[in-house]
This record gives sequence, C-alpha cells and structure tokens, in this order.
Amino acid sequence: MNPIRITLAALAIICCAAGCVAPQTGSEPASIDAKAAAALSSSFTSASPEWQQRLVQDEVQKQCSAARGKLTGDLASAIVQSQQATLKYPEGGLMGDWKSGEKVAQSGVGLQFSDKPGTVPGGNCYACHQISKAEIAHGTIGPSLLGYGKLRGQSEAMQKYTYGKIYNAQAYMPCSLMPRFGHKGILNEQQMKDLTALLLDPASPVNQ
Ligand code: HEC
Repeated sequence: MNPIRITLAALAIICCAAGCVAPQTGSEPASIDAKAAAALSSSFTSASPEWQQRLVQDEVQKQCSAARGKLTGDLASAIVQSQQATLKYPEGGLMGDWKSGEKVAQSGVGLQFSDKPGTVPGGNCYACHQISKAEIAHGTIGPSLLGYGKLRGQSEAMQKYTYGKIYNAQAYMPCSLMPRFGHKGILNEQQMKDLTALLLDPASPVNQ
C-alpha cells in the first residue's frame, strides 16, 4: 500500500471510531437500571397516563430495589416507621363479611391497563397464599394462611394487625413482596374489612 492509501485508511478508521463514539460523548453509558426502566415504560405506551404512573417507583420501592438482599437494620426500621404512619382504620369495627372476603381473595382481576373502566380489583391473595383446603391451586410466595384465626384468635389487637397488614404489609415487614392494598388504593375499606373477617372468622374456610 502506498503512504497516501495508508493515511486515508487510517483516517477512515478514526472517523468511523469518532462517529461511533460521538452519540455517547458527555453522558455515561446507560446503567442497567435505567435501561430496565426505559424498557418497562416503553412497553405500555397504549396505557392511560394515570395507569403509567404505576410504573414509577415510590420512595420505599426505590429504597427496597436498591437494598435488595442487603437491607440494613436502620433502613428496615425507617421503612416500618414511615409505613406505620400510612395506616388508616375505618370507624366502627374491622370485621366485615367473610363470604365477600373470600370472593376478593380469590379474584385476580384488576389493575391491568386493558381493564374495562369500572373493573373492581380483587386481592389475588391465592396467587401467593394458601387460603382454604378446597383450593385446587395456590401460590407459595407468602406463608399459608390456613388456620390463621384459629391459631391467633379474634382479639381487637389481632383484628388491627390483620387489617393493617392488608392495608400496608410494609408497616410490619420492610420490603415485603406483598402488595400494599390500602396504601396504594388497590382495595377499598369494605374489601379489606371482608378480608379481615375471612382470615379471622371461625366460620370461614380459612379456619376449618
Ligand atoms: C405477591 C404476593 C402476595 C400477595 C398477592 C398477597 N400476599 Fe400476603 N404476604 C406475602 C408475603 C411474601 C408475606 C410474608 C412477608 C410479610 O409478612 O409481609 C405475606 C404475609 C401476609 C400476612 C401475614 C401473615 C402472618 O403470619 O402474620 C397476611 C395476614 C397476609 N399476607 C394476607 C394477605 C391477603 C389477605 C392478601 C390478599 C388481599 C395477600 N396477603 C396477598 C405475599 C403476598
């Protein structure tokens, strides 16, 4: 190769390299977290803007994602404290109707971007918990709730814990995988009272 050709080839390589690198100058390559967030938000473009808000992590979710597997005692207590402060209890009793509660527990409907307007979300509890002996299938991400009320009784303190746990699981267990049903507006007050009855009422299938 003559010297001019070599120079041109070298220039071509440099230009190409510069061209390839150019888009990233001045910014760090995207982190895995940023790439994951971008992939997630670009996957639901047909969802309504209100629904898309569900893709944005709140403060506690961010802290839990960042601390996954290495949650310190200080952060754990701070989360429990901040989540305890969100608990709201209804006036006049926490026990509803266990039969309605069972329907809520066994319903996995709701919160999908394709839902028809007015769809009432269920609790999807069976996806993570065993609830009754009659279930054909249930998930095991959470502990079995069979015999929950039989083992613990129906004291006021137990009703308060159970309703509060459903309202915001992280008020008792920081970074719990359980959805915060009341805090996030997934279930309403009556549904949570009915679920409290499902878990505690001696007549419910949970306690047979
Ligand atoms: C995505 C999985 C998931 C879903 C859905 C879920 N839970 Fe849980 N639940 C868990 C996990 C994990 C735990 C254990 C960690 C903790 O205590 O938060 C738990 C714990 C609990 C406890 C505490 C048990 C104890 O021994 O004190 C109760 C009560 C409970 N869940 C009720 C419910 C009810 C009622 C529903 C439906 C409205 C529900 N859960 C839906 C995952 C889930």
